[in-house]
Amino acid sequence: MNVAVIGAQWGDEGKGKIVDYLATDAQIIVRFSGGANAGHTIVRGGEQFALHLVPSGVLYPDKRVVLGTGMVIDPEALFDELGMLAERGIDWEGRVMISDRAHVVLPRYRALDKSLEAARKRPIGTTGRGIGVAYSMKSSRDGVRLADLFDDRLLENLEDDDRAFIAKWRDRLAPLAVDLTHYLSGHRNTYCLFEGAQGALLDLDTGTYPYVSSGMSGAGGAATQGGIGPRRLDKVLGVFKAYSTRVGNGPFPTEFDDGSQSALCQFIRDTGREYGVTTGRPRRCGYLDLVALRYACLANSIDSLVLTHLDVYDTLDSFEACVAYKVRGGLVEHFPASVRDLEDAEPVLRTFRGWKRSLKDVREYDELPREARDYVSFIEEFTETSIDIVSVGYDRRDTIVRRSPWTRS
Ligand code: GDP
Ligand code: IMO
Ligand code: MG
Repeated sequence: MNVAVIGAQWGDEGKGKIVDYLATDAQIIVRFSGGANAGHTIVRGGEQFALHLVPSGVLYPDKRVVLGTGMVIDPEALFDELGMLAERGIDWEGRVMISDRAHVVLPRYRALDKSLEAARKRPIGTTGRGIGVAYSMKSSRDGVRLADLFDDRLLENLEDDDRAFIAKWRDRLAPLAVDLTHYLSGHRNTYCLFEGAQGALLDLDTGTYPYVSSGMSGAGGAATQGGIGPRRLDKVLGVFKAYSTRVGNGPFPTEFDDGSQSALCQFIRDTGREYGVTTGRPRRCGYLDLVALRYACLANSIDSLVLTHLDVYDTLDSFEACVAYKVRGGLVEHFPASVRDLEDAEPVLRTFRGWKRSLKDVREYDELPREARDYVSFIEEFTETSIDIVSVGYDRRDTIVRRSPWTRS
Protein backbone atom coordinates (compact mmCIF):
# COMPACT_ATOMS: atom_id res chain seq x y z
CA MET A 1 0.00 0.00 0.00
CA ASN A 2 1.31 3.46 -0.92
CA VAL A 3 0.51 6.48 1.25
CA ALA A 4 1.74 10.01 0.51
CA VAL A 5 2.20 12.59 3.26
CA ILE A 6 2.33 16.13 1.94
CA GLY A 7 2.29 19.60 3.46
CA ALA A 8 -1.05 21.34 2.93
CA GLN A 9 0.19 24.88 3.70
CA TRP A 10 3.52 26.69 3.22
CA GLY A 11 5.75 23.98 4.68
CA ASP A 12 6.78 23.15 8.27
CA GLU A 13 3.40 21.66 9.08
CA GLY A 14 4.95 18.79 11.04
CA LYS A 15 5.45 16.34 8.15
CA GLY A 16 8.62 14.93 9.75
CA LYS A 17 6.82 14.13 12.99
CA ILE A 18 3.89 12.50 11.20
CA VAL A 19 6.03 10.48 8.76
CA ASP A 20 8.17 9.26 11.66
CA TYR A 21 4.99 8.28 13.55
CA LEU A 22 3.40 6.46 10.60
CA ALA A 23 6.67 4.80 9.64
CA THR A 24 6.20 2.32 12.50
CA ASP A 25 3.92 0.40 10.14
CA ALA A 26 5.85 1.03 6.89
CA GLN A 27 8.78 -0.83 5.42
CA ILE A 28 10.00 1.77 2.91
CA ILE A 29 9.95 5.57 3.15
CA VAL A 30 10.63 7.60 0.00
CA ARG A 31 11.20 11.37 0.10
CA PHE A 32 10.13 12.66 -3.28
CA SER A 33 10.81 16.39 -3.56
CA GLY A 34 13.08 19.28 -2.65
CA GLY A 35 16.54 19.11 -1.21
CA ALA A 36 18.44 20.60 1.71
CA ASN A 37 15.95 23.51 1.81
CA ALA A 38 13.68 21.26 3.89
CA GLY A 39 14.00 20.80 7.63
CA HIS A 40 12.00 17.97 9.19
CA THR A 41 12.01 17.65 12.96
CA ILE A 42 11.51 14.42 14.86
CA VAL A 43 11.34 14.27 18.64
CA ARG A 44 11.30 10.92 20.36
CA GLY A 45 11.75 10.54 24.07
CA GLY A 46 13.35 13.94 24.53
CA GLU A 47 15.85 13.45 21.70
CA GLN A 48 15.48 15.78 18.72
CA PHE A 49 16.62 15.16 15.15
CA ALA A 50 16.55 17.71 12.32
CA LEU A 51 16.64 16.07 8.89
CA HIS A 52 17.11 17.95 5.65
CA LEU A 53 17.62 15.29 2.99
CA VAL A 54 17.27 11.87 4.57
CA PRO A 55 13.66 10.59 4.81
CA SER A 56 12.06 10.69 8.24
CA GLY A 57 11.83 6.89 8.56
CA VAL A 58 15.59 6.57 9.03
CA LEU A 59 15.49 6.49 12.83
CA TYR A 60 13.96 2.99 12.83
CA PRO A 61 16.74 0.40 12.44
CA ASP A 62 14.70 -1.85 10.14
CA LYS A 63 13.31 0.66 7.61
CA ARG A 64 14.69 1.33 4.18
CA VAL A 65 14.64 4.93 3.04
CA VAL A 66 15.07 6.35 -0.44
CA LEU A 67 15.86 9.87 -1.63
CA GLY A 68 13.53 9.99 -4.62
CA THR A 69 13.73 10.98 -8.26
CA GLY A 70 12.31 14.47 -7.67
CA MET A 71 15.01 15.41 -5.19
CA VAL A 72 18.01 17.64 -5.79
CA ILE A 73 20.86 16.42 -3.63
CA ASP A 74 23.82 18.34 -2.31
CA PRO A 75 26.41 15.63 -1.53
CA GLU A 76 28.15 17.73 1.13
CA ALA A 77 24.88 18.28 2.99
CA LEU A 78 23.91 14.62 2.57
CA PHE A 79 27.12 13.16 3.96
CA ASP A 80 27.11 15.70 6.81
CA GLU A 81 23.64 14.50 7.71
CA LEU A 82 24.54 10.82 7.43
CA GLY A 83 27.63 11.50 9.57
CA MET A 84 25.45 13.19 12.21
CA LEU A 85 23.11 10.17 12.22
CA ALA A 86 25.99 7.71 12.60
CA GLU A 87 27.44 9.77 15.47
CA ARG A 88 24.09 9.63 17.21
CA GLY A 89 23.92 5.86 16.91
CA ILE A 90 21.70 5.54 13.82
CA ASP A 91 23.21 2.85 11.65
CA TRP A 92 22.20 3.88 8.13
CA GLU A 93 24.59 1.86 5.95
CA GLY A 94 22.73 -0.47 3.61
CA ARG A 95 19.38 1.22 4.37
CA VAL A 96 19.74 4.62 2.70
CA MET A 97 19.36 4.69 -1.08
CA ILE A 98 19.10 7.41 -3.70
CA SER A 99 17.12 7.26 -6.93
CA ASP A 100 19.63 7.14 -9.77
CA ARG A 101 17.43 9.66 -11.58
CA ALA A 102 17.79 12.27 -8.82
CA HIS A 103 19.90 15.35 -9.57
CA VAL A 104 23.05 16.61 -7.88
CA VAL A 105 23.33 20.16 -6.49
CA LEU A 106 26.72 21.63 -7.41
CA PRO A 107 28.40 24.29 -5.18
CA ARG A 108 28.03 26.80 -8.02
CA TYR A 109 24.23 26.50 -7.74
CA ARG A 110 24.26 27.72 -4.16
CA ALA A 111 26.31 30.78 -5.09
CA LEU A 112 24.03 31.50 -8.06
CA ASP A 113 20.91 31.09 -5.89
CA LYS A 114 22.25 33.81 -3.56
CA SER A 115 23.27 36.19 -6.32
CA LEU A 116 19.92 35.80 -8.14
CA GLU A 117 18.18 36.64 -4.88
CA ALA A 118 20.37 39.70 -4.33
CA ALA A 119 19.51 40.95 -7.81
CA ARG A 120 15.72 40.52 -7.42
CA LYS A 121 13.73 43.68 -6.75
CA ARG A 122 11.26 41.52 -4.84
CA PRO A 123 13.31 38.63 -3.45
CA ILE A 124 11.67 35.27 -2.82
CA GLY A 125 13.52 34.70 0.43
CA THR A 126 15.07 31.40 -0.67
CA THR A 127 17.04 29.21 1.70
CA GLY A 128 20.18 29.79 -0.39
CA ARG A 129 20.68 26.06 -0.88
CA GLY A 130 20.79 26.23 -4.68
CA ILE A 131 17.41 24.55 -5.05
CA GLY A 132 15.87 26.80 -7.71
CA VAL A 133 19.07 26.70 -9.75
CA ALA A 134 19.23 22.90 -9.55
CA TYR A 135 15.66 22.59 -10.83
CA SER A 136 16.31 25.13 -13.60
CA MET A 137 19.39 23.19 -14.68
CA LYS A 138 17.28 20.05 -14.68
CA SER A 139 14.57 21.70 -16.82
CA SER A 140 17.08 23.12 -19.24
CA ARG A 141 18.65 19.64 -19.45
CA ASP A 142 22.00 20.72 -18.10
CA GLY A 143 21.74 18.95 -14.76
CA VAL A 144 23.75 15.99 -13.50
CA ARG A 145 21.93 12.86 -12.36
CA LEU A 146 23.31 10.12 -10.16
CA ALA A 147 23.05 7.64 -13.02
CA ASP A 148 25.45 9.72 -15.11
CA LEU A 149 28.20 10.42 -12.59
CA PHE A 150 30.65 8.17 -14.43
CA ASP A 151 29.59 9.08 -17.98
CA ASP A 152 32.51 11.26 -19.02
CA ARG A 153 30.80 12.20 -22.31
CA LEU A 154 28.04 14.00 -20.39
CA LEU A 155 30.42 15.48 -17.83
CA GLU A 156 32.40 17.09 -20.63
CA ASN A 157 29.77 19.85 -20.69
CA LEU A 158 30.66 20.85 -17.15
CA GLU A 159 33.16 23.44 -16.02
CA ASP A 160 36.41 22.20 -14.44
CA ASP A 161 35.32 23.00 -10.87
CA ASP A 162 32.07 21.10 -11.33
CA ARG A 163 33.89 18.08 -12.75
CA ALA A 164 36.32 18.14 -9.81
CA PHE A 165 33.38 18.25 -7.40
CA ILE A 166 31.71 15.28 -9.07
CA ALA A 167 34.99 13.38 -9.06
CA LYS A 168 35.31 14.04 -5.33
CA TRP A 169 31.88 12.65 -4.40
CA ARG A 170 30.88 10.07 -6.98
CA ASP A 171 32.54 7.08 -5.36
CA ARG A 172 30.54 7.72 -2.19
CA LEU A 173 27.26 8.43 -4.02
CA ALA A 174 27.36 5.57 -6.51
CA PRO A 175 26.92 2.72 -3.98
CA LEU A 176 23.71 4.36 -2.75
CA ALA A 177 22.13 4.64 -6.20
CA VAL A 178 19.05 2.55 -6.98
CA ASP A 179 16.60 2.37 -9.88
CA LEU A 180 13.62 3.49 -7.77
CA THR A 181 10.79 2.37 -10.04
CA HIS A 182 12.36 -1.05 -10.48
CA TYR A 183 13.08 -1.32 -6.76
CA LEU A 184 9.53 -0.45 -5.73
CA SER A 185 8.03 -2.77 -8.33
CA GLY A 186 9.81 -5.55 -6.47
CA HIS A 187 8.14 -4.47 -3.20
CA ARG A 188 4.51 -4.24 -4.26
CA ASN A 189 3.13 -5.87 -1.15
CA THR A 190 4.90 -3.63 1.32
CA TYR A 191 3.64 -0.54 3.11
CA CYS A 192 5.39 2.42 1.57
CA LEU A 193 5.29 6.05 2.72
CA PHE A 194 6.01 8.92 0.34
CA GLU A 195 7.28 11.90 2.31
CA GLY A 196 6.77 15.34 0.83
CA ALA A 197 8.89 18.37 1.55
CA GLN A 198 7.68 21.99 1.46
CA GLY A 199 3.92 22.16 0.92
CA ALA A 200 1.02 22.60 -1.49
CA LEU A 201 1.35 26.39 -1.44
CA LEU A 202 5.09 26.21 -2.14
CA ASP A 203 4.67 23.82 -5.09
CA LEU A 204 5.92 25.28 -8.36
CA ASP A 205 2.54 24.82 -10.09
CA THR A 206 -0.09 24.99 -7.39
CA GLY A 207 1.65 27.38 -5.00
CA THR A 208 1.77 31.17 -4.66
CA TYR A 209 4.08 31.59 -7.66
CA PRO A 210 6.68 33.13 -7.87
CA TYR A 211 6.92 32.92 -4.06
CA VAL A 212 7.31 29.17 -4.11
CA SER A 213 10.06 26.59 -4.14
CA SER A 214 10.92 24.92 -7.43
CA GLY A 215 9.97 21.29 -6.88
CA MET A 216 6.75 19.29 -7.09
CA SER A 217 5.83 19.16 -3.44
CA GLY A 218 2.22 18.09 -3.94
CA ALA A 219 0.62 14.69 -4.45
CA GLY A 220 1.55 14.68 -8.14
CA GLY A 221 5.19 14.77 -7.12
CA ALA A 222 4.71 11.74 -4.87
CA ALA A 223 3.40 9.69 -7.76
CA THR A 224 5.82 10.60 -10.51
CA GLN A 225 8.92 11.55 -8.55
CA GLY A 226 8.45 8.82 -5.98
CA GLY A 227 8.77 6.30 -8.80
CA ILE A 228 5.34 4.61 -8.76
CA GLY A 229 2.97 6.48 -11.11
CA PRO A 230 -0.34 8.13 -10.17
CA ARG A 231 -2.65 5.11 -10.13
CA ARG A 232 -0.59 3.25 -7.56
CA LEU A 233 -0.95 5.94 -4.94
CA ASP A 234 -3.57 4.61 -2.52
CA LYS A 235 -3.95 7.59 -0.23
CA VAL A 236 -2.90 11.20 0.12
CA LEU A 237 -2.59 12.72 3.60
CA GLY A 238 -2.34 16.49 3.94
CA VAL A 239 -0.64 17.82 7.07
CA PHE A 240 -1.64 21.27 8.34
CA LYS A 241 -1.26 23.32 11.50
CA ALA A 242 -4.05 24.72 13.67
CA TYR A 243 -2.73 28.10 12.45
CA SER A 244 -0.54 29.17 9.51
CA THR A 245 3.14 29.93 9.12
CA ARG A 246 5.37 30.89 6.27
CA VAL A 247 9.12 31.52 5.97
CA GLY A 248 10.49 33.68 3.23
CA ASN A 249 8.51 36.23 1.29
CA GLY A 250 5.19 36.16 -0.51
CA PRO A 251 1.51 36.77 0.12
CA PHE A 252 0.01 35.54 3.38
CA PRO A 253 -3.57 36.80 3.78
CA THR A 254 -4.02 35.81 7.43
CA GLU A 255 -0.62 37.01 8.66
CA PHE A 256 -0.73 38.69 12.08
CA ASP A 257 -0.11 42.41 11.96
CA ASP A 258 2.63 44.28 13.85
CA GLY A 259 0.10 46.16 15.94
CA SER A 260 -2.63 44.58 18.05
CA GLN A 261 -1.71 41.04 16.94
CA SER A 262 2.03 41.24 17.60
CA ALA A 263 1.82 39.75 21.12
CA LEU A 264 -0.30 36.84 19.83
CA CYS A 265 2.18 36.32 16.99
CA GLN A 266 5.13 36.14 19.39
CA PHE A 267 3.20 33.81 21.69
CA ILE A 268 2.49 31.38 18.85
CA ARG A 269 6.05 31.63 17.55
CA ASP A 270 7.48 30.79 20.96
CA THR A 271 4.94 28.15 21.96
CA GLY A 272 5.04 26.42 18.56
CA ARG A 273 8.84 26.90 18.29
CA GLU A 274 8.30 28.59 14.96
CA TYR A 275 11.88 29.17 13.90
CA GLY A 276 13.22 27.68 10.65
CA VAL A 277 14.99 24.32 11.03
CA THR A 278 17.20 25.05 8.03
CA THR A 279 17.86 28.78 8.33
CA GLY A 280 16.86 29.65 11.92
CA ARG A 281 14.63 32.44 10.55
CA PRO A 282 11.59 33.35 12.69
CA ARG A 283 8.52 32.08 10.85
CA ARG A 284 5.74 34.48 9.92
CA CYS A 285 2.55 33.47 11.74
CA GLY A 286 -1.18 33.95 11.24
CA TYR A 287 -4.54 32.32 11.76
CA LEU A 288 -5.56 29.20 9.85
CA ASP A 289 -6.57 30.02 6.29
CA LEU A 290 -9.38 27.65 5.41
CA VAL A 291 -9.76 29.04 1.90
CA ALA A 292 -6.15 28.08 1.19
CA LEU A 293 -6.52 24.71 2.93
CA ARG A 294 -9.62 23.80 0.91
CA TYR A 295 -7.72 24.70 -2.26
CA ALA A 296 -4.78 22.51 -1.19
CA CYS A 297 -7.19 19.60 -0.62
CA LEU A 298 -8.72 20.00 -4.07
CA ALA A 299 -5.46 20.54 -5.95
CA ASN A 300 -3.92 17.41 -4.40
CA SER A 301 -6.91 15.10 -3.99
CA ILE A 302 -6.17 14.93 -0.29
CA ASP A 303 -8.07 11.96 1.17
CA SER A 304 -7.58 12.87 4.77
CA LEU A 305 -6.06 15.64 6.81
CA VAL A 306 -3.63 15.58 9.71
CA LEU A 307 -4.07 18.49 12.12
CA THR A 308 -0.93 19.40 14.06
CA HIS A 309 -0.04 21.98 16.72
CA LEU A 310 -3.53 21.99 18.21
CA ASP A 311 -1.86 22.23 21.65
CA VAL A 312 -0.41 25.64 20.77
CA TYR A 313 -3.92 27.10 21.27
CA ASP A 314 -4.29 25.50 24.73
CA THR A 315 -4.27 28.73 26.74
CA LEU A 316 -6.25 31.02 24.42
CA ASP A 317 -9.76 32.21 25.35
CA SER A 318 -10.67 32.35 21.69
CA PHE A 319 -9.06 32.34 18.25
CA GLU A 320 -10.08 32.84 14.65
CA ALA A 321 -9.83 31.21 11.23
CA CYS A 322 -10.29 32.66 7.76
CA VAL A 323 -13.36 31.51 5.81
CA ALA A 324 -13.28 33.94 2.85
CA TYR A 325 -11.41 37.00 1.60
CA LYS A 326 -12.43 40.53 0.84
CA VAL A 327 -10.46 41.63 -2.21
CA ARG A 328 -10.85 45.32 -3.06
CA GLY A 329 -14.36 45.30 -1.66
CA GLY A 330 -15.56 42.04 -3.27
CA LEU A 331 -16.07 38.73 -1.48
CA VAL A 332 -13.78 35.95 -2.73
CA GLU A 333 -14.36 32.38 -1.59
CA HIS A 334 -11.75 30.52 -3.57
CA PHE A 335 -7.95 30.80 -3.44
CA PRO A 336 -6.86 33.23 -6.19
CA ALA A 337 -3.82 32.70 -8.41
CA SER A 338 -2.94 36.39 -8.61
CA VAL A 339 -0.27 37.54 -6.17
CA ARG A 340 -1.83 40.99 -6.20
CA ASP A 341 -5.24 39.59 -5.22
CA LEU A 342 -3.65 37.57 -2.43
CA GLU A 343 -1.71 40.61 -1.20
CA ASP A 344 -4.88 42.71 -1.21
CA ALA A 345 -6.99 39.98 0.39
CA GLU A 346 -8.38 40.84 3.80
CA PRO A 347 -9.41 37.75 5.72
CA VAL A 348 -13.04 37.26 6.70
CA LEU A 349 -12.64 35.65 10.10
CA ARG A 350 -14.81 33.31 12.13
CA THR A 351 -14.26 33.13 15.89
CA PHE A 352 -13.84 29.87 17.81
CA ARG A 353 -13.89 29.33 21.57
CA GLY A 354 -10.70 28.11 23.23
CA TRP A 355 -10.60 25.10 25.56
CA LYS A 356 -8.25 26.47 28.20
CA ARG A 357 -6.64 23.20 29.20
CA SER A 358 -3.61 21.21 28.18
CA LEU A 359 -4.09 18.68 25.38
CA LYS A 360 -0.63 17.21 25.73
CA ASP A 361 -1.70 13.95 27.37
CA VAL A 362 -4.87 13.37 25.35
CA ARG A 363 -4.62 10.17 23.30
CA GLU A 364 -8.25 9.49 22.36
CA TYR A 365 -10.25 11.77 20.12
CA ASP A 366 -13.32 11.67 22.38
CA GLU A 367 -11.20 12.95 25.26
CA LEU A 368 -10.52 16.22 23.47
CA PRO A 369 -12.51 19.13 24.92
CA ARG A 370 -15.73 19.95 23.09
CA GLU A 371 -14.30 23.28 21.83
CA ALA A 372 -11.36 21.49 20.21
CA ARG A 373 -13.68 18.95 18.56
CA ASP A 374 -15.89 21.81 17.34
CA TYR A 375 -12.87 23.35 15.62
CA VAL A 376 -12.00 19.99 14.04
CA SER A 377 -15.59 19.45 12.84
CA PHE A 378 -15.79 22.92 11.34
CA ILE A 379 -12.57 22.37 9.36
CA GLU A 380 -13.82 19.00 8.15
CA GLU A 381 -17.08 20.47 6.92
CA PHE A 382 -15.43 23.47 5.32
CA THR A 383 -12.84 21.43 3.44
CA GLU A 384 -15.10 18.40 2.91
CA THR A 385 -12.19 16.29 4.10
CA SER A 386 -11.93 14.22 7.25
CA ILE A 387 -9.25 14.88 9.86
CA ASP A 388 -7.96 11.42 10.70
CA ILE A 389 -4.97 12.29 12.88
CA VAL A 390 -4.56 15.07 15.44
CA SER A 391 -1.16 15.98 16.85
CA VAL A 392 -1.05 17.58 20.31
CA GLY A 393 2.68 17.95 20.86
CA TYR A 394 6.02 17.57 19.12
CA ASP A 395 6.90 14.16 20.57
CA ARG A 396 6.15 11.02 18.59
CA ARG A 397 3.77 9.94 21.36
CA ASP A 398 1.65 13.11 21.31
CA THR A 399 -0.58 11.81 18.56
CA ILE A 400 -4.28 10.90 18.32
CA VAL A 401 -5.25 8.54 15.52
CA ARG A 402 -8.94 8.46 14.61
CA ARG A 403 -8.52 6.36 11.47
CA SER A 404 -5.32 4.66 10.42
CA PRO A 405 -4.14 5.63 6.94
CA TRP A 406 -3.15 2.01 6.37
CA THR A 407 -6.72 0.92 5.72
CA ARG A 408 -8.02 0.83 2.17
CA SER A 409 -11.33 2.70 1.92
P1 GDP B 1 8.11 19.83 8.67
O1 GDP B 1 9.05 20.63 7.82
O2 GDP B 1 6.74 19.80 8.10
O3 GDP B 1 8.62 18.46 9.01
O4 GDP B 1 7.99 20.62 10.06
P2 GDP B 1 9.20 21.27 10.91
O5 GDP B 1 9.93 20.19 11.59
O6 GDP B 1 9.98 22.21 10.06
O7 GDP B 1 8.41 22.18 11.91
C1 GDP B 1 7.44 21.67 12.76
C2 GDP B 1 7.82 22.04 14.21
O8 GDP B 1 6.72 21.80 15.05
C3 GDP B 1 8.93 21.19 14.77
O9 GDP B 1 9.61 21.93 15.75
C4 GDP B 1 8.20 20.02 15.40
O10 GDP B 1 8.95 19.39 16.46
C5 GDP B 1 6.99 20.73 15.96
N1 GDP B 1 5.73 19.97 16.01
C6 GDP B 1 5.25 19.03 15.17
N2 GDP B 1 4.00 18.67 15.51
C7 GDP B 1 3.68 19.41 16.61
C8 GDP B 1 2.52 19.52 17.43
O11 GDP B 1 1.49 18.89 17.22
N3 GDP B 1 2.59 20.40 18.47
C9 GDP B 1 3.69 21.16 18.72
N4 GDP B 1 3.67 21.99 19.75
N5 GDP B 1 4.81 21.09 17.95
C10 GDP B 1 4.78 20.23 16.92
P1 IMO C 1 9.89 21.81 4.78
O1 IMO C 1 10.02 20.53 4.03
C1 IMO C 1 9.12 26.08 4.70
C2 IMO C 1 10.58 28.30 1.23
C3 IMO C 1 11.70 29.30 1.45
C4 IMO C 1 11.35 30.33 0.41
C5 IMO C 1 10.84 29.49 -0.75
C6 IMO C 1 11.88 29.21 -1.82
O2 IMO C 1 10.73 21.91 5.99
O3 IMO C 1 8.44 22.10 5.03
P2 IMO C 1 14.03 27.64 -1.89
O4 IMO C 1 15.29 27.68 -1.10
O5 IMO C 1 13.30 26.34 -1.82
O6 IMO C 1 14.23 28.09 -3.31
O7 IMO C 1 13.09 28.77 -1.23
O8 IMO C 1 10.42 28.26 -0.19
N1 IMO C 1 10.84 26.92 1.68
C7 IMO C 1 10.31 26.38 2.78
N2 IMO C 1 9.51 26.91 3.72
N3 IMO C 1 9.45 24.78 4.76
C8 IMO C 1 10.23 24.22 3.81
O9 IMO C 1 10.50 22.91 3.79
C9 IMO C 1 10.73 25.04 2.78
N4 IMO C 1 11.51 24.82 1.71
C10 IMO C 1 11.57 25.97 1.04
O10 IMO C 1 11.67 29.81 2.76
O11 IMO C 1 10.27 31.12 0.88
MG1 MG D 1 10.40 22.20 8.01
